[in-house]
Amino acid sequence: MAEIIGGITTSHIPAIGRAIAEGQQEAPYWKPFFDGFPPVHAWLEDKKPDVAIVVYNDHGLNFFQDNLPTFALGMAPYYQNEDEGWGLKPLAPFPGHPELSAHIANSLVEDEFDISICQEMAVDHGFTVPMSLLWPERWQPEIKTIPLMVNVVQHPMPTPARCLKLGQALGHAVASFPDNLKVVVLGTGGMSHQLDGQRAGFINRDFDLKCMEQIVEAPEKLAELSNLDLVREAGSQGPELILWLVMRGALGTKVKKLHSNYHAPVSNTGSGLLLLEPS
Ligand code: DHB
Ligand code: FE
Repeated sequence: MAEIIGGITTSHIPAIGRAIAEGQQEAPYWKPFFDGFPPVHAWLEDKKPDVAIVVYNDHGLNFFQDNLPTFALGMAPYYQNEDEGWGLKPLAPFPGHPELSAHIANSLVEDEFDISICQEMAVDHGFTVPMSLLWPERWQPEIKTIPLMVNVVQHPMPTPARCLKLGQALGHAVASFPDNLKVVVLGTGGMSHQLDGQRAGFINRDFDLKCMEQIVEAPEKLAELSNLDLVREAGSQGPELILWLVMRGALGTKVKKLHSNYHAPVSNTGSGLLLLEPS
């Protein structure tokens, strides 16, 4: 049977992709951020998951505002990264796992999550930056990926509570896949940030740190917030945090925190890293 062996949260800020491409990890600006990652790399090297389910948000590359599903699951043999601006050079395609995707799609729809299913899907920095952070230089080229896209760019967005439930349904889906597979779930994006408008540059460190605690110990408490609460407390792009709740739901009731790191600002954003195991 397939098993979810862990959950990881990471930022997806495009500037991180630039820093990786330029080898800036030791530069004074970047070092405190990249120094958070070695324990997570060591865990991944030890566990060698077969599949990463990447819960992410598209920022206008594969979906635009005229045609934007609330939830969309990739079911492709590979996922292409394309030029989306931000000065990032497109990366080589990421291999998929269509059989597990098909199983998850069936199981989610049975569980009343009527997701869109994409047999082709281009992935942007929301997906590629976390992958580059966790698998630098593609050190585990055999790892398969499944993108699970959640709309956090245009209202109405799914509620935090709905995202926690989607994660629970995702957990059931993976656990009922017959092949032996080790699966890691990535909750990407966040934390507080606002990229435009009067509060551009807004970061709420206290709120971010509180979320990093609650997502571990009391995700249902965090899920009581509305997206408007998240905008107020964490800026107009703060709702990216609901992606973390999908990951957290998939891990089950109790989790063990193995590692965490918070650094702000990175570009315009508070960046939170967590490594969790189901317990
Ligand atoms: C930044 C953050 C994001 O979430 C994003 O999608 C783009 C840019 C930033 O802080 O620069
Ligand atoms: Fe973003």
